[in-house]
Amino acid sequence: MLSEKITNGINGEISIPGDKSISHRSIIIPSISNGICEIKNILRSEDVLHTLKAFKKMGVKIEDSGNNLIIYGNGLKSLKKPESEIYLGNSGTSARLLTGLLSSQNFETILTGDKSLSSRPMKRISEPLKKMGADIQTQDGKMPIKIRGNALTKTNIDVELPSAQIKSGLILAAINTDGETNIFEKNITRDHTEIMLESFGANIINLRKNDGKLIKVEGNKELKSQNIDVPSDLSSSAFFIVSALINKNSKILLKNINVNPTRDGVLTALKLMGARISLKNKRYSNNELVYDIEAESSELNGCELDPNIAKLMIDEYPILSIAASFAKSPSIFRGLSELRVKESDRLALININLNKCGVGCKINGDNLYIDPLNGTKQSTDQIITEFDHRIAMSFAVMGSKLGNVFIKDPESIKTSFPSFIKSFNDSGGSIT
Ligand code: S3P
Repeated sequence: MLSEKITNGINGEISIPGDKSISHRSIIIPSISNGICEIKNILRSEDVLHTLKAFKKMGVKIEDSGNNLIIYGNGLKSLKKPESEIYLGNSGTSARLLTGLLSSQNFETILTGDKSLSSRPMKRISEPLKKMGADIQTQDGKMPIKIRGNALTKTNIDVELPSAQIKSGLILAAINTDGETNIFEKNITRDHTEIMLESFGANIINLRKNDGKLIKVEGNKELKSQNIDVPSDLSSSAFFIVSALINKNSKILLKNINVNPTRDGVLTALKLMGARISLKNKRYSNNELVYDIEAESSELNGCELDPNIAKLMIDEYPILSIAASFAKSPSIFRGLSELRVKESDRLALININLNKCGVGCKINGDNLYIDPLNGTKQSTDQIITEFDHRIAMSFAVMGSKLGNVFIKDPESIKTSFPSFIKSFNDSGGSIT
């Protein structure tokens, strides 16, 4: 894929697809609830479709009306043993959330994934589940994962890592377990699972404690289905926001974007850098906070970000690094160890690829230093993505400013944002 320099900016109202995290949960939670759920604006990307296929394989009736999905849920104990293993492609969210959910179901399942997912750490979810009595076997801590579902025991569990996937897997295990399970997350992470379960009538209590949150889940309370309107994805929006900020003559409007406060770090960081971003028309959709976002060409400064903000924007460092490459001063982003275990080692790939583009980038421990380009473009050979969608899209944005950026293996974009190239080109970008 080649991304070329643009001169007339990125402009207009751009339609952003449904939020990926909420879309996964919009399939999982109605599938174990009672009643019918009609879902609008679900993200139809490969990752989400893997979750969808998994539930169809476990006997859930799901209809597609073309625009909307309709899920006919039959309750917490209604899932059926799948006839064969469940393949989850590239989707870490599906893998962690389903490992939790299936560990307290009454059948055996095997979860598999593609090369990237099969290299990602799974002990982080299997070990805390074992504290509840789960019977899970991994391949040296990786996929495939064999889960022999059984009745788990309520207990108290600390989630040490800042991971919404681990927390959500545990909550989904607890929802089908007798009594009250206490899950303490030391770092507050995205809370889409808690929000949706609450609105489906779960007995779930969230209590702030020190810097973290205690989540009390009362198991075996039947959930009642509701219709869901999935708001659009802030992580996907970030590619357009940064394109508009770094390119001259740009002004964009993104409507109906989920700006959940546990996930809005990228807006905080960009504003700190001097970005001209405004949030308008505040409202709630299924208890999720939603705004329309405007962004326009801006003179950016570098910034220092401490590790605390990382959990609020873990997926946005690749695109934030592109913004920092065009700032007037250097940036330091601290505490990025979790970036090493995403769809690729994102810390390494940001560093390698920014250097290819002539940006002075360095890693020191878990910290990333970015010394912006000072006007001249150096040789750019191909950008390595290792099939990581966010690396591919970030460097497509880099190309709009720098010109002539060749990106290897861009097919991964389909995992989260299949319409990205079209939307980018429609708003002024030049990707072929
Ligand atoms: C997600 C949580 C994050 C994020 C991922 C989606 C979720 O992962 O990186 O893209 O939907 O819960 P971790 O919770 O493992 O950091």
